[in-house]
Formats: sequence, C-alpha cells, structure tokens
Amino acid sequence: MKTSQIIIKNALIVNYNEETHADILITGNKIALIDRNISAPGAYVIDAGGKYVIPGGIDTHVHFALPTFAGLTADDFLTGSHAAIWGGTTSVIDFVTPLHGQSLVQAYLQRQAEASGALVNVFFHVSPIEWTENTAQQMSQLVKDYGVTSFKVYMAYKNSIGIDDKTLIKVLETAGRLGALTIVHCENDEIIEYLRDKYYSQGKTLPLYHPLSRPDEAEAEAIGRLSLYAKSLDVPVYAVHVSTEKGINIIRQRQAEGVQFFAETCPQYLTFTDEVYDAPFVEAAKYVMSPPLRKEHDRDALWEALGDGTVSTIGTDHCSFTNDQKAMGKDDFRHIPNGAGGVEHRLEILFTLGVASRKLTMQQFVQLTSYNAAQIFRLKGKGMIAQGYDADLVIWDPEQKHTISVENHKMNADNNIYEGIEVVGQAETVIIGGKVVKDQGQLFV
Ligand code: URP
Ligand code: ZN
Repeated sequence: MKTSQIIIKNALIVNYNEETHADILITGNKIALIDRNISAPGAYVIDAGGKYVIPGGIDTHVHFALPTFAGLTADDFLTGSHAAIWGGTTSVIDFVTPLHGQSLVQAYLQRQAEASGALVNVFFHVSPIEWTENTAQQMSQLVKDYGVTSFKVYMAYKNSIGIDDKTLIKVLETAGRLGALTIVHCENDEIIEYLRDKYYSQGKTLPLYHPLSRPDEAEAEAIGRLSLYAKSLDVPVYAVHVSTEKGINIIRQRQAEGVQFFAETCPQYLTFTDEVYDAPFVEAAKYVMSPPLRKEHDRDALWEALGDGTVSTIGTDHCSFTNDQKAMGKDDFRHIPNGAGGVEHRLEILFTLGVASRKLTMQQFVQLTSYNAAQIFRLKGKGMIAQGYDADLVIWDPEQKHTISVENHKMNADNNIYEGIEVVGQAETVIIGGKVVKDQGQLFV
C-alpha cells in the first residue's frame, strides 16, 4: 500500500519524554507535520482513536541468515523482516562477522548485499575478530565512509570469533578515537570451555548442562573486566544481552562512577528462568542460548534495571534454529546451536510484562524499544515521532490479546520459546518510510 500522503487522526503520540494528542501528516517518507485537525485532500486517512502511536521499534541485536556449524539460522532477512514488522519493529541491527583474514570493509559490503531483500531498515555492528596491521584503518574507513557507529567483539567463543584482551583493548581504544561504540559479548571463555568439556567427559550431555557450564560469575567477571578497560581508556562500552544480577550491579556501580557503560538485555531473560532446562530434549534445547536463562533473582534485577535506567535497550538476540538443527546436540549439549527467535515478540512481551503489569510507563516502553537505541547508535531520523523524522511508526492497540504459537507466528523456525504465552498489546498498523506495511492483520510487502 503506497500513498504519497497519510494522515493518522486522533493519535495519542508517545515519545520518550511526552505524550501528545494530535494528528500526524506523513508526506513521502517523512513526518511532515504534527498538529490538531490536519486535513490534506487526497491523503489516505487512518484513525488511531483509542490507540497509541509510537516510534517504529528498533531491535538492537538480531542474527538473520547467520552462518553457523548447524547451517544458516532459520530466519533470513526476508522472513526475519516479516516477523519484525508483524511485531512492530521497523529497524534491526544485525552483525558483520568477517572470516579470518578477510577485510572488515569487504565483509561489510558482502553482508549489506546479503541483507538487500530486507523489508525493514537494517544497520550493522561490525566485528573485528582479530587484530592485524590493517584493522585500525578498516575501522576508520567503516566509520568515515560507511557510517558505521558500532563495533562488536566477543570475550567468549575464543576458539572461533572471540578475541583476547590485548585485541579487545586495541578495538576499544580505536573505536573510542573514531567516536564509535564498542559493544561486547561478556562471558569468561576460559571457565566456560573448561566446564563444558568437564561435564561432557563425565557423561553429562543434556541441555541442562548448558546453563551449568555458563555460571553467572562468568558474565559478571567479563563485565567487570570490560568496565575496567572502559574506565582506564575513557571510552564508552555497551554490554549486549546482560542476563545476571551480578552483572547489573557492576554496571550500575560503574555508571555511578561516570563510566559510559550502556547495557542491553533481551525479552527472554525478562520472561523465563533456568527451570525451562529441566525438560525433555526438544523442549529444553529451544532455550539453549548464550548467555543462558538465569534465576528468579536475576530476572527481578533486570526488571529493576529497566525501571531505573541502568539498562537502556532491549534487543532480542534473534538467532533462530529449527528443531532439526537443535537436534545436532541431542547426545552432546555442546553441539546444540545456540540461540532462539524473538524479533516478532519483543514489543508485545515488554508491553505485557512491563507496561500492562505496571512495571514500566509508556514513555519507558518507547525509550527501551526505540528511542535509546536511536540515540546510542546514532540512527538519524529514527526513534522519535516529530516533524522531519523518518515516517517509521506503529499504531499500537493496547487491548488486543493473543496467544503466541508456532502455529501462527511469522518467524521461520518450527519452534517458539514463547509458545502458549498470552500477550496483550499488538502492532495494529506499521508504517516504514511512509509506506503502510501492516494494517489490520495483513502485511503489505
Ligand atoms: O545464543 C546466542 N545468543 N546466539 C547468538 C550469538 C550470540 O552470542 O549473540
Ligand atoms: Zn547475539
């Protein structure tokens, strides 16, 4: 559905800092005017009475078409986009992971081509996985010529894409000098690899040993180490998928000391605990992700951290696998591909467990689902409903209820970690770049 002008009437516009009753005029791909009683002959009119109008969701952390030892992840850029739109997400940030020896710039261009079929806005975090004589220059080129604002590194996975601390420090310092942000997967690799092999050698092969081999201390130690580097080098850092109370406490402390330490968490850590691993293989394997699901006190601490602003963003770490792919680890939990889908459910889970449960206000909901991400990753024109901003927005029905199920989800995997959960709140209409891409239960893409 393409019209050059759209008027959204009777909107209750929610931005990060205020709520306003007004109409919105969209011309082309921009928000042209916000005012009372707008009229524009020939414009397509949508009535948003009784609904919220919020900035299009920005998912800070997705892995579409990610090559893994189990093959490509189940969602590519097309199916991932469909699912994102369905749930009210209009922009995603995916990853560029080069091969060893490959230039970061070449890997970036290749990944951009792979994402060309996407129906949502796609941005990238770029991952230096080694330090060569060319890395600093390539990082500089990506920032200056391609507008990259963030680099992602892994303190875990040292036998593949993870880096040692010497490299981490070089990346942090180089990114800082370039005005870019380093985002980090924080887990202590040494103890994790040791425990994984130890459990396996003792015949402990079930998914249950996945969380046991990735203790909360492993995350907290890495977060603490990262915070030391951030403070010493005076550079900003961002920890992805923070899952533990211990990690949150360190981040909160460092933020109080003036360290620019941003934190992201994911809907799955706000929803589940590690009890889900005590189940038959197919069920338990769905939840094998890194970091793993944690204890109730961790979940409570994450909610508190959303409320007090310690955590700024919600990314899904969408990394979906089919049951067949997960079955690769049926005799050895180390071979279960890590990750789960969620890009479709981010807003409705946060709305249900957060806003409808009175843990979060609507303005906090907007901060966490779009505004903060746009600010932190400097996504120009995103994250606000204001004149001159991109016309990426969502009409959000706070009353609509449904039960999440693999039977009707848009994601491509034949499993869903949120199966059976009843959610309230739904993206009724989704507009990307001035184009209606979802309306009244139909996709127009
Ligand atoms: O289990 C996960 N999260 N898989 C995706 C890769 C990562 O660590 O983010
Ligand atoms: Zn991830």
